Amino acid sequence: MISRIDQDELKRRVALAAVDAVVPSLGTGAIIGVGTGSTTNHFIDALAKLKDRFEAAVSSSMASAERLAAHGVRIIDLNDAEAIAVYVDGADEVEPGGALIKGGGGAHTREKIVAAAAERFICIVDESKEVDTLGAFGVPVEVVPMARRSVADQLATAFGGKVRERPGFVTDNGNAILDMLGLAITKPVVFEGVINNFAGVVENGIFAANRPDLVLVGTPEGVREFAPPLR
Ligand code: 5RP
Repeated sequence: MISRIDQDELKRRVALAAVDAVVPSLGTGAIIGVGTGSTTNHFIDALAKLKDRFEAAVSSSMASAERLAAHGVRIIDLNDAEAIAVYVDGADEVEPGGALIKGGGGAHTREKIVAAAAERFICIVDESKEVDTLGAFGVPVEVVPMARRSVADQLATAFGGKVRERPGFVTDNGNAILDMLGLAITKPVVFEGVINNFAGVVENGIFAANRPDLVLVGTPEGVREFAPPLR
């Protein structure tokens, strides 16, 4: 088990590796997509040093937008972005095929939107996020507030495990988060699609239909990378 300090250092190192991976995409007019979370915060801090080498960022959350703006990085709305050269974001779990659980910070809906709009998706994690099978972390599901109870009941009936509302949490979209706990997700593409069909679900935190093009993993021995197989 790595200590908190060690884990944060691994996050910092993998974020620096992500900046190196993004450099070829920089240039006049380049728009960079930016995720959310403590690993991405390291990426933001390092990317900001190159702010004169790209046009603007599209952010997946208000928190990341504030951090980018504090560094003097220009933020634009996704609807105003001609193209997003690359999107960089963390994850809560990544399995060997590159499918992810995201949404520990409750930002997965906007994260999935920006990731889908980007030409390239780079996922950055420390090694504690690697798993054989997705599920131990819990799957966040963003729901319209009036559907909290009905969706929770339906998810528990359909999949088993426990479904808990994240107390007091309101997403950037004004919605609630349910966390699905105690599952082992062996068919993430199917699972992702089925959950989104429950009335009241806005988006779930499985990223399987659209996976990262590149996963960077921070380890004490250095940053390892793998490209999930094309699907
Ligand atoms: C936020 C996310 C984050 O990327 C995920 O929770 C990982 O966070 P961290 O880098 O702090 O470990 O999906 O919605």
